[in-house]
Amino acid sequence: MKNINQILILTLSIAFLFNCENKNKKGNSNTNDIIEQQVDSVLALMTLKEKVGQMNQFNGSWDLTGPASNVSNQEKLERLKNGEVGSMLNVLSVKATREAQKLVMDNSRLKIPLIIGYDVIHGYKTIFPVPLGESASWDLDIIKKSAEIAANEASAAGVNWTFSPMIDISRDARWGRIMESSGEDPFLTAKIGVAKVQGYQGGDLSKNNTIAACAKHFAGYGFAEAGRDYNTVNIGEYELHNTVLPPFKAVAEAGVATFMNSFNEIDGIPATGHKEIQRNVLKGDWNWDGFIVSDWGSIGEMITHGYAKDKKHAAEIAANAGSDMDMESYAYVGYLEELVNEGKVNITLIDNAVKRILRVKFRLGLFDDPYKYCNEEREKNEIYTEENQAFSREVAKKSIVLLKNENNILPLSKNIKNIAVIGPLADDKDTPIGNWRAKGGRDTAISLLEGIKNAVLPSAKVTYAKGCDIVINKEIGRTFLLPLKFANTDKSGFPAAVNTAKNADVVILAIGEVALQTGEGRSQTNIGFAGVQQDLLEVILKVNKNVVITLMNGRPMDISWASENVPSILECWQLGSQSGNAIADVLFGDYNPSGKLPVSFPHNVGQEPLYYNQKMTGRPFNPTHVTFSAYRDAPKTALYPFGYGLSYTTFEYKNLTLDKNEILADGEIKVSVDVINTGDRDGEEVVQLYIRDLVGSLTRPIKELKGFEKIMLKAGETKTINFTINGELLQFYTINKIWEVEPGDFELWVGGDSTTKLKSNFAVKE
Ligand code: BGC
Repeated sequence: MKNINQILILTLSIAFLFNCENKNKKGNSNTNDIIEQQVDSVLALMTLKEKVGQMNQFNGSWDLTGPASNVSNQEKLERLKNGEVGSMLNVLSVKATREAQKLVMDNSRLKIPLIIGYDVIHGYKTIFPVPLGESASWDLDIIKKSAEIAANEASAAGVNWTFSPMIDISRDARWGRIMESSGEDPFLTAKIGVAKVQGYQGGDLSKNNTIAACAKHFAGYGFAEAGRDYNTVNIGEYELHNTVLPPFKAVAEAGVATFMNSFNEIDGIPATGHKEIQRNVLKGDWNWDGFIVSDWGSIGEMITHGYAKDKKHAAEIAANAGSDMDMESYAYVGYLEELVNEGKVNITLIDNAVKRILRVKFRLGLFDDPYKYCNEEREKNEIYTEENQAFSREVAKKSIVLLKNENNILPLSKNIKNIAVIGPLADDKDTPIGNWRAKGGRDTAISLLEGIKNAVLPSAKVTYAKGCDIVINKEIGRTFLLPLKFANTDKSGFPAAVNTAKNADVVILAIGEVALQTGEGRSQTNIGFAGVQQDLLEVILKVNKNVVITLMNGRPMDISWASENVPSILECWQLGSQSGNAIADVLFGDYNPSGKLPVSFPHNVGQEPLYYNQKMTGRPFNPTHVTFSAYRDAPKTALYPFGYGLSYTTFEYKNLTLDKNEILADGEIKVSVDVINTGDRDGEEVVQLYIRDLVGSLTRPIKELKGFEKIMLKAGETKTINFTINGELLQFYTINKIWEVEPGDFELWVGGDSTTKLKSNFAVKE
């Protein structure tokens, strides 16, 4: 034992010295080569048992996100001591991280540090808007910075790996996990995914305040049939490559440290056992060198899928398919060694997986100092700071989308005499924290009522009435197992709410979904207002027409009745710790709303999945004939389309110009457009560029986002915005199963949402 330890120390010291010497000579340029040598030198010392050990991830036990495994804590401790665990998840404090790390460092033969993972999805303790909401900002700088803050807080608490960004294309409002996504568009999702990876990982993963990111869920999880979580996914190869994979490719190129695979099957093959996408595409074609962790128990679930006959078989399939680390299935720890000895899994595949895991650990600097994230001072001083709260408010206000504002009812004057704040979510300090809240505390958000009181002048009278609840009690609201059964139908609060509304100059009505109504396992067939919220809205409107709905939700909801009958609607998602202050910033005009929808809002649930970048079909629409692709009882277009959002000012687009109308596949076109702020307030606008490839070797979407820029325009100001169209934007995964530009005609639009009519065209010549 002593000998091997000495060899290891010697090898690591040589690698370290080599590292320093080379850093001095050539700066950081060959850090990667050095890391490769370090990885190899450690791998050379490892027994098969130790290699397999690195490929396991165990839960820290007390914060389960899936069915609990029946492995005892004692067994976990023993395996940690034996070096049979590569990673832990949900180990949540400096103290706990130090203890877990110490078990490995003090007892295991090779002392390979643990990597500690956690779902830091929209903040660690300072909570930012849920990802779908934050994506509505279309502001890559603030998205990157919120990830940077989340990484700083998480790393101060011992965490060095987040299971984020979630970049599943999500077109179905019924799917509860849509709240974790960036919505329906691959281009926007890719940009946001990259911004988040850059925020979490920084320029240098070895710093103490950056953490490894994880692109998930690879792949196709958002295409669950009927929006039911974990359900079967049947998408064709071309759709997979053109719609689902591009964000993953973008973050792989941006250097994301890890990937997580997914629970679903794709056309009969569970993603966890999918060799083609994991080994051939991700690790092969894309040449990505990080490691893939399974989703929680997803290796074992291949048995339930009917794809593996038992756990040993599942381990064999997953390892051969390229899943490098087993999260909580205990399939690798139980069977991999045996499988290698029987020749069912080749040792080179094990070596490859272990190298990938060690590589990330070296990049994080864990071999230099396994306790580098264990700093009590940082834990005390750097989490939930005032500065972070202030930034959370910035992100939150930029994520709000103004859906409707008839007669400019908003913004309100702070001098307003009597403002009624009504609704089940008006004084709710928990809902804005949303799901996947990491260490975001219960009831810690600034409620809307608090935010409004903070904003108005002392002369303003603010009255409050809850009106109703959404679920029958708060605990059930948190787990929300059976939403229909537990919807609250009590209307006894209505009279007080009506009285409050009657005498007010304006009613701010906070309705929508409770915190945990979206998230994993929270699929719904009904996306309207649960309980008696719709009735509340109707009785309030009868006594006061000046109603502003502040909608709080994690998915697109059916708000068609409200949209027709209520003068103003603000989409406020679940905005995080500073929700109430941020909404007040917008209500009173301290901030001019600039958010744009990252996902289409339907007229009703029957339209789902609904997305703007759909295909033409052979029979698009003909109002004079019945046998066309349409609904007989509802429009086929969105109530509020992708990219849509109003401002307190107005913007006009003109002079769309292309510097040429023909290019070769490797050429480029400069596009410019003038955007004018035609109102009397300064405001931000998201200028969006869409194209359509008219004829392809495969049918192409009717519109595809290919560029956007968020700009600030002073009242009356005009700016010329430029885009460049090139082969990279025009290519797609063609019938030849490669990414290429096909010559032909294209249409191009620029405007403030996906329905823009300002159009031009160009051609790519042979
Ligand atoms: C989820 C993942 C998550 C993991 C660990 C799973 O149930 O699907 O997104 O990262 O749990 O908590």
